[in-house]
Amino acid sequence: MVEANTPRRAAVVMAGTAGLGRACAAQLLRDGAAVTVCGRDAGRLEEAVTGLRDLGEVAGERADVSVAEEVERLVEGAVARHGRLDVLVVNAGGPPPGDFADVDLAAWDTAYRLTLRSAVTAIRAALPAMREGGFGRVVIIGSSSVRRPLEGLVLSNVFRPALAGLVKSLAVDLAPDNITVNMVSPGRIDTERVRTLDARRAERQGTGPEEVRRAAEAQIPAGRYGSPEELAALVGFLAREEAAYITGQSVLVDGGLVPVLP
Ligand SMILES: NC(=O)c1ccc[n+]([C@@H]2O[C@H](COP(=O)([O-])OP(=O)(O)OC[C@H]3O[C@@H](n4cnc5c(N)ncnc54)[C@H](OP(=O)(O)O)[C@@H]3O)[C@@H](O)[C@H]2O)c1
Repeated sequence: MVEANTPRRAAVVMAGTAGLGRACAAQLLRDGAAVTVCGRDAGRLEEAVTGLRDLGEVAGERADVSVAEEVERLVEGAVARHGRLDVLVVNAGGPPPGDFADVDLAAWDTAYRLTLRSAVTAIRAALPAMREGGFGRVVIIGSSSVRRPLEGLVLSNVFRPALAGLVKSLAVDLAPDNITVNMVSPGRIDTERVRTLDARRAERQGTGPEEVRRAAEAQIPAGRYGSPEELAALVGFLAREEAAYITGQSVLVDGGLVPVLP
């Protein structure tokens, strides 16, 4: 909720037209921020903006986050629209699945641009407005691969841990500016991405997606996939004023799936 005399916060949610990004946008809107979301597909973007409008002030920009100029335009557009930028949720589509032997050099370059450079570009673009406002909350959506490599997802296994390194470095650099930088990492949250990965695995194993899902859920101590809203609740908290003293952290939202020490 926006408190009396608190100016409305402005937020950008990258890749925010579906799945985890959209749930984060909804959470930030409910918490009173004006939110800009982006995605590549115009129809999906329009549908998302229409669906989110009931929750608050939302704008949509078409942008492919793997293209640096489009990320800069997205962030600069939001700053121009609201005269400020307080919250940046760094999100992107997932890199394609594959083992080392399946991935050619072009795919490595694309994954770098999609997963790591998109984050760097957005944060660079956001910092001047955050510094000027004396407040900033950067939350990066990661993956459980920051703690334990995932089978058949070598690009995620390489570039997500790089994001974890970025979070730790930036947290130190930006704490004096009241800008926090944290990472929220899903285990298995029920979105289109996970359903697609399950279907792909089912095809390889010659079973059905429901069977794959049941087997995956059996590995999760909570016994089920999470919902996008369960992840967005943490992102919303980290974006709040009250989370000022939490920075440089990487938190799993995984129902207990990855049993590693911090
Ligand atoms: N769900 C999970 O359990 C899970 C687990 C580990 C990691 N992750 C990671 O978390 C991120 C979000 O996952 P999700 O499950 O929410 O995926 P999702 O359901 O596939 O949604 C992806 C969203 O990102 C947008 N998008 C994709 N590529 C984009 C690009 N290049 N530029 C701009 N927008 C783009 C999509 O819209 P358009 O297609 O229209 O652009 C869509 O709105 C991914 O990186 C995923 O790998 C998710």
